[in-house]
Amino acid sequence: MANTLGIVKPDGVRRKLVGNIISRIEKAGLIIRGLKALRLSKEQAAKFYAVHEGKPFYRSLIEFMTSGPVVVMVIGGHDSIDRWRDLMGHTDPARARYNTIRREFGTSIEKNVVHGSDSATTARSEVAFFFGDDEVLPKE
Ligand code: RTP
Ligand code: MG
Repeated sequence: MANTLGIVKPDGVRRKLVGNIISRIEKAGLIIRGLKALRLSKEQAAKFYAVHEGKPFYRSLIEFMTSGPVVVMVIGGHDSIDRWRDLMGHTDPARARYNTIRREFGTSIEKNVVHGSDSATTARSEVAFFFGDDEVLPKE
């Protein structure tokens, strides 16, 4: 019953997709346990995506992720890590299944609307990156 981190990226916020995305999460039976809107600094974005440092898309990714506000959320519920990634779809919207967020709204492999943690370990550290313990609702 681990929590995971979700982000509505700047393209999603700009296009007013926050409500639609939260609605999909709730309809899937997952639970919003923490939520905030913020704008990442260059330093924060670089640190958050440090695992991609040196890759050809790294600098562009940092530019994009700091281009406007994001909405970060702690998503809980049974199997939340895998189920949130299922709702998002493949990294590349062109390869994502129908009815996934990235397939419906993504415009490129970079501008793919949402982020989700990819393992229990990254979920724990990514939630802690944005949320203090007192900012996450306890599991019921
Ligand atoms: P995310 O971390 O955002 O949930 O996405 P992911 O696991 O599906 O993809 P990942 O490989 O971790 O890449 C992180 C983000 O970098 C951008 N990207 N651009 N131009 C490219 O080839 C490329 N590849 C990845 C995307 O915004 C991706 O979500
Ligand atoms: Mg990733």
